Parts: sequence; C-alpha cells; structure tokens
Amino acid sequence: MSKKIDPQNGKDTHLDQALRPSSFGEYVGQEKIKKNLQILLSAAKEREHAPEHLLFYGPPGLGKTTLAHLIAKEIGSGIKITSGPAIEKVGDLASILTNLTPKDVLFIDEIHRLNKTIEEVLYPAMESGVLDIIIGKGPSARTIQLELPPFTLIAATTRMALLSSPLRSRFGGGVFRLEFYTQEEIEKIIGRSAKLLGVEAESGAISEIGKRSRFTPRIANYLLKRCRDFAQVQKEKLSKKIVDEALLLLGVDTLGLQNADRSLLTMLIDKFNGGPVGLSTIAAALSEDEGTVEEVHEPYLMQLGLLERTPRGRVVTDRGFVHLDKKIKENSQGKLL
Ligand SMILES: Nc1ncnc2c1ncn2[C@@H]1O[C@H](COP(=O)(O)OP(=O)(O)O)[C@@H](O)[C@H]1O
Ligand SMILES: [Mg+2]
Repeated sequence: MSKKIDPQNGKDTHLDQALRPSSFGEYVGQEKIKKNLQILLSAAKEREHAPEHLLFYGPPGLGKTTLAHLIAKEIGSGIKITSGPAIEKVGDLASILTNLTPKDVLFIDEIHRLNKTIEEVLYPAMESGVLDIIIGKGPSARTIQLELPPFTLIAATTRMALLSSPLRSRFGGGVFRLEFYTQEEIEKIIGRSAKLLGVEAESGAISEIGKRSRFTPRIANYLLKRCRDFAQVQKEKLSKKIVDEALLLLGVDTLGLQNADRSLLTMLIDKFNGGPVGLSTIAAALSEDEGTVEEVHEPYLMQLGLLERTPRGRVVTDRGFVHLDKKIKENSQGKLL
C-alpha cells in the first residue's frame, strides 16, 4: 500500500504550479467547457458584470483549479482560494466574503466538504449578494444584512453526488463535468511539460507515458518527472525503453493501473468471483476510504471498461479478468454484462 501513487498522493503542488497553463490557449482539450466559458465570459464583460457562479466536477488532476485561475485572469480579476474543509465557522466565510474586492473570483475547492450551516450562509451570498449575520443570542438576537461586493464563486468537487441539490442549483453560470483527456491531448500536454522542464524526450517515450497516464494531466506530468529522474540517474536519454523500466519500478502497468487498482480488481475476482460487490465492502476489504475508491480508482477502471457499476454493486468485466490474467468463469457476472 505504501508505494501507491494515486493522483492525490502524486499531487505535487510545486509541479502543478510550474506546469499550469497560463492562458486558455495553452489549456489543452475540454473544448465544450472552453466554448461555454468563452461565451459566458465575454457576455459578462460586455455587461460589465461579474460572471455567474460556476461549478466544475470530475476526478482529481483533470484541470479544475487551473480553469478557475484562467477565468480570473481572463476577466482581469483577483482570485481568492479556499476549500470546503478550510472554512470551519460561519465567521470564516463571512470574513472571506466581506474582504473580497468587487468582481473577485472566489475559488472554493472540495466544496462537497463544506458544512451545512456554512452552506446555508452561502446561499443568499450567491443569490442576492448579501450576508445575513445573526448578532446576539436568544430573544435579543437580531439579524443584520450586509451587502457584499459582486463576486464570482467558482467551486470544484471530485464528488458531485455529495452536493446538495439546493447548492447545485445556485451555480447560474453552469455546472461542468471535466472529461478524461484523449491520448492525443495527453501527449500534447506531456510534450509541453517536457519543454518547460527542459527534458529531451523521444516521441516513443511521450506516447508511452501518455498511455499510462490515466488520461489525466496531473498524472502525466508526475510520471514524466519520475521518468526524467530515472533517465538522469541511468545517464540515458528519455526513450520508450527508459519509460518502461521506470514505470515498472513504480508499479504502473501498461494500462496505467497502479498497485491499488490491481488489488481492487484482484480482490473482486478472487474473493467475490468478480462481483457484484457494494462500495463499502470494497473499501473495507482494501482498507481504503470510500471516497478514494469512488473518485480515484473506479472512474478510470470504468473508463477502461474493466469495471462496471450496476444497481447491485461493482462488477469486473471480461476485459478486467483478461487484463489480470484471470480465467473467466462460465456464467460469471462479467459475462452477463
Ligand atoms: N487542460 C490542460 N492542459 C494542460 N495542462 C493541464 C490541463 N489540465 C491540467 N493540467 C495540468 O495538470 C495539473 C493539475 O491540474 P489541476 O487544475 O490542479 O487539477 P484539479 O484541480 O482538477 O485536480 C496542472 O497544474 C497542469 O499542469
Ligand atoms: Mg484542484
């Protein structure tokens, strides 16, 4: 378990910042989102309004935080960054909101972790730009209403299902799901990163890293960096052969599965004959928390068609059996899919 590199653990804030695109032109892919944003942002500019509130969701490392930065830059506004778990008290949120400069972007990461009382204070702030504060206690308590500077809330979450529908419905600018990237897009991102890092990488090396990057820019950048280090220590050029060796050492297989993904599939096959198995059982068997299983491992396994979610639980597909070199049983659940 210690050697796993899920996108959260692989998160390297330094690397993220160094390689973060600084304009929409450098932001590869997610074309639908970019088009929508262009319209939204230019309409807001024309009306001289702060753009409406936006919500981005999808697995870690796909570019949500980057979009928030790009939007602020595009409209020439400042950005204040916080996160659901960082806002502990109503007072924390009140102080953030009252200290905004007009037209600032307020970025709240992991908004699914915002506590309910704070969420309720956020509603009128989002809807009418006011903050209701209760002063005093008991019968003498009174509410005062503070007018807030106009702002755009941009929120991000990896776990859309945990967001309440009243909160979701308040993102008037739109709720956007980030998609996994294509091989071509990922290669473009790796090529750009290699240049920025001053790494000379053969094209075979770039495409191999791309194949194993879980269609995720953050992982692509992380693997590139690890392969670069490996090449440097071996005193070799960054070739496909070096990538193969480096990634073997890291436990990243040809499909980009990491040890934890393989344990998940192996456990489902060996202990449960491929499923169906409920999320809580999987998490307990792997000593992982449900969130990590659901937001990090499963989306990629499903994208590859190795795992399916059914109403009765998770099921390993035939492809999943084959990838792990397991014999597909006649009438196995995998066959039924
Ligand atoms: N569309 C993109 N084009 C180029 N690089 C990207 C793109 N999306 C993400 N990245 C890279 O991946 C890193 C992680 O992106 P980030 O926005 O922090 O992901 P998230 O907030 O969704 O977890 C960024 O620092 C950037 O280097
Ligand atoms: Mg982020």
